[in-house]
Formats: sequence, structure tokens, C-alpha cells
Amino acid sequence: MGTSEIKRKIAQEAVRHVKDGMIVGLGTGSTSELMVEELGKRVREGLAIQAVATSIKTERLAENLGIPLISLEEVKHLDLIIDGIDQIDPGFSILKGGGGALFREKIVALYAREVIYMADESKFVARLQPHILPVEIEPFGYRRLLDMLHARGVKGEIRHTDGKPFITDGGNWIIDVSLQNIPDVRHFSREMKLATGVIETGYFERQPDLVVTYRDGEIVEMVHPSLRRGGGPV
Ligand code: A5P
Repeated sequence: MGTSEIKRKIAQEAVRHVKDGMIVGLGTGSTSELMVEELGKRVREGLAIQAVATSIKTERLAENLGIPLISLEEVKHLDLIIDGIDQIDPGFSILKGGGGALFREKIVALYAREVIYMADESKFVARLQPHILPVEIEPFGYRRLLDMLHARGVKGEIRHTDGKPFITDGGNWIIDVSLQNIPDVRHFSREMKLATGVIETGYFERQPDLVVTYRDGEIVEMVHPSLRRGGGPV
């Protein structure tokens, strides 16, 4: 089975968690696009939900599929967010932001009572190092942040598309930071957030309650280690 078929199977399973009356956060990325398509089918079949999108791209897709959208300001809580990820380690530490939507994804997840992440096998890693930590920054004065990383022996570069800096939905830039020489990603992410000009990092301290994946020909739902009772898939 190809990666996109696997992602669709994972997406189909994830949307089974959506029930009538829920307010649902819609993630961003290729797996989330499939999830939104699957959710759109269920809405057309009569599922009554409201959704909050984590990016302009997801918002447009959901609108086109007839999924009722509301803004984050209109809700006190979301019942659920369903999103993709870039990396997950055995302790459920997560890196996101490969698609550039990290700030909105993170803030919407903070409102959610339940966080479900969809991850094909390529997302599971033994350690978050040496992967990439996307860091969303205010463009003004960006060089100071690059110099700061350089002085620490950490590699970071401004993300580009078509020869120009990638612009986030919030009008910001992203520095892709190599975690190669970073012993403690959580600590490093917190340090980065203290630096003037940093808006958010792709290290998500709010870990998922559930990760949906596809392994050895079948769907596997992995419950967060702190929520496991009597074992279950790990
Ligand atoms: C978007 O910025 C990311 O956080 C995505 O959620 C992540 O990159 C998921 O990737 P795919 O679903 O495209 O694999």
C-alpha cells in the first residue's frame, strides 16, 4: 500500500472519533487534508459538527467541503483536535511545523479536551535528535536569532520556498533548527521562546491523548502512556 493510501486509512480511523455536536480542531498537512475530506463525507451524511481550522489552507478545504467553521474566539473549548505530526518519540514527545502551521496548530490544540494525532510509520523515531525544530519568528531582526544559534554551535536556517522566505499564515518566517547538538529538546524549546523575536516552536508540550497509526497491515491506536490502563499497544 502506498503512503497516501496508508494516510487515508489513518485519517478514516481518526474521524471515527468525531461525534454529533462536537467542536473539532482541523489540523494541517497531507494527512489532515485527507482527514478533512473524510470528515466532509460524514458531514454530508448528516454529522452535525462545528470546526476550527489551524491554517488558511485547511479553512479553504473545509469550506469547500461544506464543513461548518467557527473562529477560535467563538469557543471556550474544543472537544477534539485531529492533526498530523512530523516526529514522535517513544515518550510521545512531538515535533510539528514541517508544513509551517505550527503556531495555529499549537494554540488550537491548547483549547482541545482531546488531542488525536495521525502518524504513518515514518513519523516514529527513537529520539527527536537529529530532526528539525521549526521555530516561527518575527522577520524583523531575524539575524540576531541566527547569530545566537550560531554562537551556540546550533545550525539554523530561514526556510525558503521558490527562493524566497516561507511566510506563515501569521506573516512570519520560520527558522529550521537542527536538533543535532541539542541534548534536551524541551529545555531548548523553552529557551528559544524566551528569545526576543521568537513566536513559537514546533515542540508541542501538550502531548497527544491518542496516536492513530497503521502498522503491519492494520490500524493501531496508541494511547498516551499516562492514560494506559492494563497495557495496550505501545
Ligand atoms: C504542519 O505545520 C505540520 O505540523 C503537519 O501537521 C505535519 O507536517 C504533518 O505532516 P503530513 O501529514 O503532511 O505528513
